[in-house]
Amino acid sequence: MILSLLASAILSAPQAQTTLTVDLTKPGVAVSPNLYGLMTEEINHSYDGGLYGELLGNRSLKDDPAVLNWEGAGAGSTIVVDRRGGMSDVMPVALKVHGAVANQGFWGIPVRPSTTYHLTVWAKGAHSLEASLESVDGSTTYAHASVLDMSSPVWLKYTVDLNTSAGIMPTKDARLVLRPTGGDFQLSMASLMGPTYNNRPNGSRPDLMQLLVDMKPQFLRFPGGNYLEGNIFRERFNWKATLGPIESRPGHLAPWSYRSYDGMGLLEFLEWCEDMKAKPLLAVFAGYTLSRDYVGSGTELEGFVKDALDEIEYVTGNTNTKWGAQRAKDGHPKPFPLECVEVGNEDGFDGSGSYEGRFVQFYDAIKKKYPHLQVISTTGGKDSIGQRFKITKRRPDIIDEHYYDSTWQMMAFASKYDRYDRKGPKIFVGEWAAQDVPAPWIDAQHKGPTPNMNCAIADAAFMTGMERNSDLVVMACYAPLLVNVNPGGRQWAVNLIGYDALDSFGSPSYYAQKMFMANVGDHTVPTVLAGAPIQTQGNQTLPGIFVSTTRDTKSGTLYLKVVNALPTDEPVSVVLNGAKSVKGAVLTSINGDPKLMNTLAEPKRVAPITITLGDVGTTFKQTFAAHSVNVIKVVIQ
Ligand code: AHR
Repeated sequence: MILSLLASAILSAPQAQTTLTVDLTKPGVAVSPNLYGLMTEEINHSYDGGLYGELLGNRSLKDDPAVLNWEGAGAGSTIVVDRRGGMSDVMPVALKVHGAVANQGFWGIPVRPSTTYHLTVWAKGAHSLEASLESVDGSTTYAHASVLDMSSPVWLKYTVDLNTSAGIMPTKDARLVLRPTGGDFQLSMASLMGPTYNNRPNGSRPDLMQLLVDMKPQFLRFPGGNYLEGNIFRERFNWKATLGPIESRPGHLAPWSYRSYDGMGLLEFLEWCEDMKAKPLLAVFAGYTLSRDYVGSGTELEGFVKDALDEIEYVTGNTNTKWGAQRAKDGHPKPFPLECVEVGNEDGFDGSGSYEGRFVQFYDAIKKKYPHLQVISTTGGKDSIGQRFKITKRRPDIIDEHYYDSTWQMMAFASKYDRYDRKGPKIFVGEWAAQDVPAPWIDAQHKGPTPNMNCAIADAAFMTGMERNSDLVVMACYAPLLVNVNPGGRQWAVNLIGYDALDSFGSPSYYAQKMFMANVGDHTVPTVLAGAPIQTQGNQTLPGIFVSTTRDTKSGTLYLKVVNALPTDEPVSVVLNGAKSVKGAVLTSINGDPKLMNTLAEPKRVAPITITLGDVGTTFKQTFAAHSVNVIKVVIQ
């Protein structure tokens, strides 16, 4: 790839027919300071088995331990489940262990050299417990510790650290084994936390957090997505049940076919924002579930509206408010900044038409108490879901539109916002991704799990359109963000970042996003592309090259983005109309065969390379490699 890029740079063709004129003499529009963010929810084991630092599967034993994650370890060991014998109403299950018990984690437990793993067990019985991190076949022990003085007949919490030595090789194929001495024992819950980002106690996996931090997102949309709604009311994201010590969080069945521990609770989402220096974009449950059940506007909905107001208070309130004080008690006295609240998720699917009434009730209550907050509606836009219902009784500040479409369609959408009504609400593209599969939610364990270079090109083409129109499109975030690549961990086929228990990688689309997010000015610059080849599919045509230019008005730096969707290297003459002189220019690019994907084994088959361009003046020639996404950073005077 490096050779290909250098070759294309050297190939700068004097006979270029395509001209790109960047007109610095004309005003552009202000680029939204919140344009690029991230969207997250519990799907594809994004948290449990992903970002959340817990390494044990089924830690609360609520899924049948004999079936999921737990097993007797060694000859003669048995485990018996007592569904009512646990330590509390919140953790009602007890596992009676004779011999030893093992937990396999989420498709393995990762171990690394010179690393500390914090084990907590809520247990009773036996005299002591030997805890070890072992290879799956038990032949190698990576770390070992004893939990002593366990003879209490009542449930107690015990903690111990397991330390690996410097000499071990990193592996994901480990398991935790608990071996009692002096009798049988009972377990009601267990937790094993590895190192976390910023050493947060109930924190996140460092490598995944680093990939996210590196994107420099402006906001995080959470907690969903369908995960916000739940299949039925009691399976919604009930934020109040996600606070406090982990043993007091009941967890809940989530819509993507597995249980969530709610270890990634409301406070952890907010701390995740803090770690990324991103603003929270809070979606509140709006009385509608995925089974199409809803609570219409009126008295019955009041409880959910109150819940949303309490939630906003938890996020933003001073410590002299009820929920601000709770946040302080939970460990975070400082309020979090909040600008936007989204009411529900994809309520265009609510065929009853109840959303308008529900939205109005939430909107009025939020605006009354928090007039400065921007309220986002999930219908009324021009995506396929939003068009079904318009909100007429209030004007949402922002409308959330979602696009999961083919690569071709996403490239076609690159010009969609050029023609949008500027008098209506602003647009938030709250979920979007170019797909190379017809339906990413079908058969996801055999497809994907991450986008290829073709998707990255279409993503980038779409981003040029959002960026050019960012007076209107004020926020955008790709979805889904995370996927555990083990086939059993996947519910969606096209996801930005992949990982197993040990390693992680960004897809080509990740790098396209990162390049766009790190290189954006505060104003657009009118840019005209002339003479560029087109691409065809059947009897349809689209531009072959997509462009967007922004400028940082303080420094004068130009960010010129050029997406070449064509199978040929494309020479382009660039004219910087109105620039006096150019101090320097740097090109960052990804390119490669459209089918190329990154994987755990080859995480950087597609990854950006940066070169300094020589001979760049107010006009210059540059060849953009076939199938490439490019950003030229030009320092001008
Ligand atoms: O991103 C996956 C799902 O797609 C989201 O949960 C939902 O909002 C959308 O339909």
